[in-house]
Formats: sequence, structure tokens, C-alpha cells
Amino acid sequence: MKGIILAGGTATRLFPLTATTSKQLLPIYDRQMIFYPLNVLIKAGIKNILIIVAPEHSGQFINLLGSIFEKAGIHLEFKVQKVPKGLAEAFVLGESFIGDDNVAMALGDNIFEDDLGEKIKRFERGGLVFAKKVSDPERFGVVEFDENDNVISIEEKPKKAKSNYALTGIYVYDKRVIKIAKNLSPSCRGEVEITDVNKRFMKMGELKVEKIRGAWLDAGTYDSLLEASNVVKKKELYKKFDPIVDLAIMEFNSELKKIAKKRLN
Ligand code: TTP
Repeated sequence: MKGIILAGGTATRLFPLTATTSKQLLPIYDRQMIFYPLNVLIKAGIKNILIIVAPEHSGQFINLLGSIFEKAGIHLEFKVQKVPKGLAEAFVLGESFIGDDNVAMALGDNIFEDDLGEKIKRFERGGLVFAKKVSDPERFGVVEFDENDNVISIEEKPKKAKSNYALTGIYVYDKRVIKIAKNLSPSCRGEVEITDVNKRFMKMGELKVEKIRGAWLDAGTYDSLLEASNVVKKKELYKKFDPIVDLAIMEFNSELKKIAKKRLN
């Protein structure tokens, strides 16, 4: 399976923080946000990950991540998304990277308490989405499903929700997603929507849902960014990373310290 992290976008809700860097490079307690989706994919055993970034921040992503996973045998690629045309564009930009494999796509600003690795590993065919029970489903993409966890309806921010389950930012598909994404027309807000991808798999009877139990945070606003750091600290989520990620960060830090010492001498 291949992995994609969608780390572009404009992050207007976080201005002026995101006037100087990308949202996914902002700190969540002791590390940059991007390490959270990276950790999800690495825990799923994925070795090839494409990171999609906005043009103005590509250099910063490469400075941080360019070579830190090399030793662990994890291969990162970067691709610039010139204009943020929507989440489903990930599969158009990722066409040659995905090839004939399955793909797990993680939004760069979503943080999960649960370890989703095993659930992603078990994926075989069709589509798989992850949902979290919420008290205010009207604010989210809402998913309704049958007793076998087959998705039977998806509605974006409905006035009256059919379930209390909100769709979160991890999506797993087989390679048919490329063709589906390439054939989508932009929605009325001018984006190619992941909801439309999900609806296609649902109509084919091939969209499953996995329920998430632990905390789920989308760090896209001032409050949720702060809450994410607080939850990570309180639940000690920063201690639950895959050892590959921890080692990479540790080595990166000691390299930085060496360089800083040299400058002082
Ligand atoms: P959003 O939070 O929906 O969009 P945004 O990050 O641009 O923020 P805002 O609404 O405040 O302007 O995006 C969810 C994730 O997907 C986030 O990690 C950014 C990423 N993204 C892309 O990489 N490309 C895109 O075209 C879009 C729409 C989002």
C-alpha cells in the first residue's frame, strides 16, 4: 500500500500563523503537526509516502523531512499542488506514484488518539473511511452505515443528520480511485470533493466504515490547534509514536544541536 499526506491548502482560518509557514508545520506540543499523519501511515507499515504541499512551503517540508526516514527504509516523495483544488486532487496528483497499488490518504492536519495501523493494514478492496461519534454531526460530513459497517449514506453538513458519526481525515481506496478522481467535476465551491469519491464507492456497494473510539482532532482553527496540543500533552500521545518516527526526530534534533554548537565555536 502507498501513502499520501495532503499538506497543502491555504489555512486561512489560521492567519496570520500560516502567513509564515504551513499549517502542518505548526507545533503540536513537542513536534510538528505533519508527524501525526506520518505516524499513522508508518504504523500501518507503509514504506512509500507522497507528501503534497503548497508551492510556498515546499522548501520547509524538504528541510524537515527530506532525509530523516532514509535509514528506516521509508521513502518520502514530495509534490507541489499549485492551487488548492480540493482533497480529491490528491489522487490525480498521485496517479503515477500510486500505480497499481492501494492507497491510504491522510489529511495533514488530523490527529488521532487510536492506533489505526492494523485497520489500514487489513484493507483489501474498495474504499474505507473512518468515523467518530460526535454530539454535533451537523458541522461535519456525516456517514450512515448498516450492521455490517457498509456505508449507506453520506451527507455534507446536513441540517438534520442521519447518524452521529462524522467522517475523519483518513481514506483508503484501491487504485480505481485515480480514475474516479480524474472524472470528478468541481463542486459549487470550486473544489473536487472527497465526498464525491466516497459516494462513487458507496454506490458500487464497496465503501466500508471503521469507527474510531479515541480522540480525533482537526487542528485547523486557533481553538482546535490549542486543544490538540493540550490533548496530546494530557493523554501523552507524544509518547505513543512508532519508534521509527521517534528515532528520526531524535537524530534530527541531535544533528541540529551539533550544527548549533559549531556555529557558537
Ligand atoms: P482544510 O482545512 O479544508 O483547508 P485549509 O487547510 O486550506 O484551511 P482553511 O479552511 O482554514 O483555509 O484542508 C484539510 C487538509 O487538506 C489540510 O491539511 C490542507 C489539505 N488540503 C490540501 O492539501 N489541498 C487542498 O486542495 C485542500 C482543500 C486541502
